[in-house]
Amino acid sequence: LSVVVLAGGLSHERDVSLRSGRRVAETLRAAGVDVSLHDVDATLLTYLDQQRPDVVWPLLHGAGGEDGSLRDVLELSGVPYVGTGPRASRRAWDKPIAKEQLLAAGLSTPDWLTLPQDLFRDLGAHGVLTTVVERFGLPVVVKPTRGGSALGVTRVNRPDHLARAMVDCFAYGGGALIERAIDGVELAVSVVEGPQGPVALPAVEVVVDGGYDYDARYNAGRVEYFVPARLSAAQADDVARVAVTAHRALELRHLSRTDLILQADGTAQVLEVNVAPGMTETSLFPQAAAAAGHDLATLYRGIVESAAR
Ligand code: DAL
Ligand code: MG
Repeated sequence: LSVVVLAGGLSHERDVSLRSGRRVAETLRAAGVDVSLHDVDATLLTYLDQQRPDVVWPLLHGAGGEDGSLRDVLELSGVPYVGTGPRASRRAWDKPIAKEQLLAAGLSTPDWLTLPQDLFRDLGAHGVLTTVVERFGLPVVVKPTRGGSALGVTRVNRPDHLARAMVDCFAYGGGALIERAIDGVELAVSVVEGPQGPVALPAVEVVVDGGYDYDARYNAGRVEYFVPARLSAAQADDVARVAVTAHRALELRHLSRTDLILQADGTAQVLEVNVAPGMTETSLFPQAAAAAGHDLATLYRGIVESAAR
């Protein structure tokens, strides 16, 4: 079985992707798979034509990798690949669109409004603040409508911090998603498709002072992970059901990760789904797989084999 792992690319999450790619490549090699790791550039189609792998595993995070465009190219190449197709990736990547789909599937997601950068200019910081505070009060979370790894994300507790949060957000793209902040247990539930369909892995609970930001995600030490999460059996079943429902509703394929907050009243508020969850040393998907008793090498081999069929 020969696999090309694609990593890198030119998104803000390039470094994370290189780490995910190296990790997955090493793990697949340990399972006896013939792997080449390729940093994506304009020569991709030529490269795939020369290599003719059985399967491609795209591990690009962020724009390019998760917005469907790389997957369009993979469709064009005719080589089978791991993960969600282009159309569903585009929809999952766009947070407001994904949130509409989650609501339509009967799931909960924090109330939100979206604000294009032009409107921010027209309304001014004060106008935005009035709208946001009338609608949600504070705190709110400001994030790019399309993005990953918490880049450009700020929890705003004080009115005078909103303008700065918007500016940071627009550094990553032209749209802001402003969400009502939700208190509760922060969880990530990964899903893998088996012979019987999508199955949730144990939830990972993230406990961190100062927010689960980029630094906390990728530098060991700041976050305390509980794997499995400290949930009752009923809560664990419920968040598993939510992740599988999200996976199906958004037409995700092979694997995904749903990030959510479990509120004190038991409501699971879905923040987003990830079509290319991080696979680094500190990432959540591999931790969940290990907690489920999977040998990662065997699991990843199974994923590429099912994608190859
Ligand atoms: N966007 C990062 C890679 C994640 O979701 O894990
Ligand atoms: Mg994400």
